[in-house]
Amino acid sequence: MRRDVSQDDGIIVVQNVTKRFGDQLVLDNVSLAVEKGKTTVIIGRSGCGKTVLMKHMIVLERPTEGQVFFKGERIDHLPSRDLAEIRRHYGFCFQMGALFDSLTVFENIIFPIQQKQRITDWTAMSKLVKSKLAMVGMDGFQFQFPANLSGGQQKRVALARAIALNPEVILYDEPTTGLDPVRSDIINELILKLKNELAVTSVVVTHDMKSAYKIADRIIMFHEGRILADGDAEHIRSHPNPIVQEFINGQVSEAELAAIRLGGTCFEAQFDPQDFQPTGSGH
Ligand SMILES: Nc1ncnc2c1ncn2[C@@H]1O[C@H](COP(=O)(O)OP(=O)(O)OP(=O)(O)O)[C@@H](O)[C@H]1O
Ligand SMILES: [Mg+2]
Repeated sequence: MRRDVSQDDGIIVVQNVTKRFGDQLVLDNVSLAVEKGKTTVIIGRSGCGKTVLMKHMIVLERPTEGQVFFKGERIDHLPSRDLAEIRRHYGFCFQMGALFDSLTVFENIIFPIQQKQRITDWTAMSKLVKSKLAMVGMDGFQFQFPANLSGGQQKRVALARAIALNPEVILYDEPTTGLDPVRSDIINELILKLKNELAVTSVVVTHDMKSAYKIADRIIMFHEGRILADGDAEHIRSHPNPIVQEFINGQVSEAELAAIRLGGTCFEAQFDPQDFQPTGSGH
């Protein structure tokens, strides 16, 4: 799907962006305008380039070709110092290494605030941290270190940090992965609440179609570095492309089934106990 976007078409605009890592083409001339105050959900198979695309929206990756705009201003070529200023408008929660291991939950949450201003009123700060943690069901964990939390708990703390500064735009990379269904739905409700009450713009990468249908104003299916489908939930549900249908229904394609069959039986693929015996042991 090809279309042209101009720099004022959305709060974030990715224009003709191509990204290569060495010989690998990850983004193939992608253009996308993220609409202000709406929730845009990006879906697609593992490894198709969703995280890389999202990182371009905040210039954690720079395009090989093409441009990125925030509120009409080109940002992809800015030096780090200027980018720090732009990033203050964003909250972001990426897949990996979301929290600082050496800081407590409390210190992790106030980190972006400290970057912006010197904290003098610690009572107010404690209240703020408490309210942000309560939003994700993590009040009471202020003085724990990330290593003592489960994966899902760490993710929720990272979300609380992402919303700490009331950002205009929040980028969420798989916010519900690793959470139980009830916690996942709390995150969905949080994203809806931030949109409805504070007109926050959200971009959400997810594999969770239930979440996608619930929160999205617009769903973009990404495939092999390009946008394959783009529209509201109904548009995606009834999309004629079999790749879209296989993804949203969690089905394996005929080609993939054939590859599994070609791979031989599971029995043939097992290790033999003797594979683990030390060589030269005399057995
Ligand atoms: N910094 C990097 N250097 C080299 N290759 C990279 C880098 N970041 C990503 N890639 C490659 O780009 C491709 C897309 O990665 P990306 O993380 O965007 O996938 P994804 O769609 O987010 O997958 P998942 O759903 O598994 O998170 C992968 O093949 C990955 O190996
Ligand atoms: Mg990813």
